[in-house]
Formats: sequence, C-alpha cells, structure tokens
Amino acid sequence: MKSNPFLITGYISPNYFCDREKETESIFDAIRNNRDITVFSPRRIGKTGLIKHVFHTGKHKNLFIPVYTDILATSSLKEFTEYFGRSVLTTLAKNESAIKKILRNLASVRPKISLDPITGEPSVSMTVSNEREAEDSLDTVFRYLREQKNHFIIAIDEFQAVAAYPEKNTEALLRTHIQQTTNTNLIFSGSRKHILTGIFSTPDRPFFNSTQLMEIGKIDADNYKQFILERFEMSELKINPSAVDLILEITDVHTFYVQYLCNRLFGEHEKVDSAKVNRMLLTIITENEAVYANYINLLTPLQFRILRAIALNGGVQNPTSSDFISTYDLGAASSVSLAVKSLIDKEFIALIDKKYTLNDLFFYWWLRYKGGSV
Ligand SMILES: Nc1ncnc2c1ncn2[C@@H]1O[C@H](COP(=O)(O)OP(=O)(O)OP(=O)(O)O)[C@@H](O)[C@H]1O
Ligand SMILES: [Mg+2]
Repeated sequence: MKSNPFLITGYISPNYFCDREKETESIFDAIRNNRDITVFSPRRIGKTGLIKHVFHTGKHKNLFIPVYTDILATSSLKEFTEYFGRSVLTTLAKNESAIKKILRNLASVRPKISLDPITGEPSVSMTVSNEREAEDSLDTVFRYLREQKNHFIIAIDEFQAVAAYPEKNTEALLRTHIQQTTNTNLIFSGSRKHILTGIFSTPDRPFFNSTQLMEIGKIDADNYKQFILERFEMSELKINPSAVDLILEITDVHTFYVQYLCNRLFGEHEKVDSAKVNRMLLTIITENEAVYANYINLLTPLQFRILRAIALNGGVQNPTSSDFISTYDLGAASSVSLAVKSLIDKEFIALIDKKYTLNDLFFYWWLRYKGGSV
C-alpha cells in the first residue's frame, strides 16, 4: 500500500509540506540578520510545521544547529528548565565524546543519559529539585551553549506558557540569558495572541520589542489545491478538482482540517468525488461525537448557546451586535461579551480574518449538522 502523503502529526520532509515559501524565507532572513522572531497564529494553522520545515532546511544546509522545545505542558520555571535543558543537551549529545563532555562539565545538573527506545538515539535529561536550583541549572545550560562554537537556533514552542508560571521573574531571567548568548537566536511560537503580544509588546516587560512578530495566515488556496492534486496524482489515485474545491471550502483552508480530511480520503484508496467528501465529513463528525459531548460539558449554558449561534451563523464579526443577539436569543450584551471572552480564553473560538469562528472546524460542522444547517 502507498504511504499516506497527508500528515496529521509531525514533520517528515519538504515532500509532505505545502508552500509556506514566503514565511520560510522571512524566518531565514531573520536568522541571517540575527533577529529573534515570534511566530503566532490560531491553533493548528501550521506554526510547528513551519518551524520544523525551517529546521529541516537549515540543518540540511549546515547553516545552524536547531534545538526545538515545546513547553506547553510546563507550569513552572523548574519544569521549563528541565524541558529546555533536555532539548539543548540532547541536541549537543551527538556522539560519544560530546556525551562525555556533558557528563564531565555539567555534573551540577545531574545529566542522565538514556537511549530512545525507537530511534536508539541518546537523550539527556536533567533533574531540577526546586526553583533555586532551576535558576542555577538554567545558568549552567546557557553558559554551556555560549562555550560552543556553533550557531544555534532555539525554538520555544507554546511560549505563552511562561506567562502563567508562579515565578514572575522568568521572563527577565530568560531575556538576560538570551541577550548574553550571542551564538544563539530564538524562535518563539504560540497560539495565544494576546498573551504573546503581552509578553513582546508591553513596554515594561523584559521581552518588549525584542523580537520580530510574525503572524502566520492560511496557506494560499490555489497552492493547496495544486499540492492536493499532485499528491493524489503521484499515488495514481483519482480526485476530481471540484472535490478538492469542496475540501478547501469545508475546511476553510485551515491546515490541520485540510490535512485530516485529505488523509482520511486518501486512506480509502478510491476515486474521490464531492459526494465522497461530504460522506467523509459526516463520518468524521459522527466519530467525534463523544469528544463534542465533552466540550459541551466544559461550557456554561450561555457559552454553549453562543458557540452554537456562531456556528449556525457561519462565524460572526460582532457577537454583541443587537442583530446577532436577537436572532439567536442570547440575552444581555454584557453577559454575551463576558462569555465570548471566556470562549476565547478556552480556545473554543478565535478571531480569524476579522470574524469569530470555532477553532475546531469539525465541531463547527457537527453543530451545524445538529442544528439543521447542513
Ligand atoms: N505547510 C504544511 N503543509 C502540509 N501540512 C502541514 C503544513 N503545516 C502544517 N501541516 C500539518 O498540519 C497539522 C497542524 O500543523 P501544526 O501542528 O504545525 O500547527 P500549529 O499551528 O503548530 O498548531 P497548534 O497551535 O495546535 O500547536 C500538522 O499535522 C502538520 O503536519
Ligand atoms: Mg504547534
């Protein structure tokens, strides 16, 4: 069986990656000119994929050593230090002599070597007992980075997490280390726009104006269409161009949803036409019903009614307008306004192209389907 060209997790190679030429070039331009950069977009548009694509290309051309760390699951400086330290040290542990050096020079962070059970590659973790030790360990890791001859590009994905740490000095601490580590450039990334702009655009915060802000939009629809047609063609599977148009319409060209729908359709190994696309959408939303029931449990009744109204309305520019409120019988504008804020905070909705829309597009279609709008 042919392997599926539509990835729904991770990054393999440029063959599986659509477009992003301008964005890739902008990041390379920043790297060449020693600028740190902050990449942000709504969920699942392709930030992590873009960073991995830049890293793949940069590594291939020997331009820099990439270090990727995802701090979504961290909630303190101690955990940040452990995650960050593991990413840096694992990258540096590329051969036996490098590992020996780490064990010798970084004994204070208690490095622990283990072999990845799948790849067989060594991984170096470090244990941090408390906050005081975290500061010392972070200092040690940055000092070790400075001692290296190479140029490093370090991506810290889901960087907004630092804003919620109890240690309020984290940003100042990191900024100081980063400024001193001149052989390193940073790519920060995340989806919580207002938290990230808070970190990078508030005058009295340590990272103020320290990076180039780069908002990632959707992939160009024509390029995506071409990509999809080519991938099917290369596998000698047939797909109608009008079915591709429908895929892009249903998914609103939102990367993850395009990939997911294409992945499932490709997996059928049959000719794809518009009827098949519609049937697949129905299959997917039916499969996910348990997830949607869980979503609904996380919402207050008003939040749910607003969410459903936004879905039935096909998105909304101004959710507190009297038109929208009266059409969907939502009550007082002040309560709607609070509920919308909460839906944004919980990442159920986001402002995309000047419209509030649901982050989970399949949930959007399920609400419309249940509401009789499909
Ligand atoms: N340019 C691309 N071409 C093809 N697939 C892509 C592209 N960019 C991302 N993807 C795929 O789309 C999915 C979502 O992308 P990714 O995880 O990069 O989004 P994200 O913006 O980092 O999401 P999140 O906010 O949840 O972290 C992934 O499965 C990824 O493999
Ligand atoms: Mg991501």
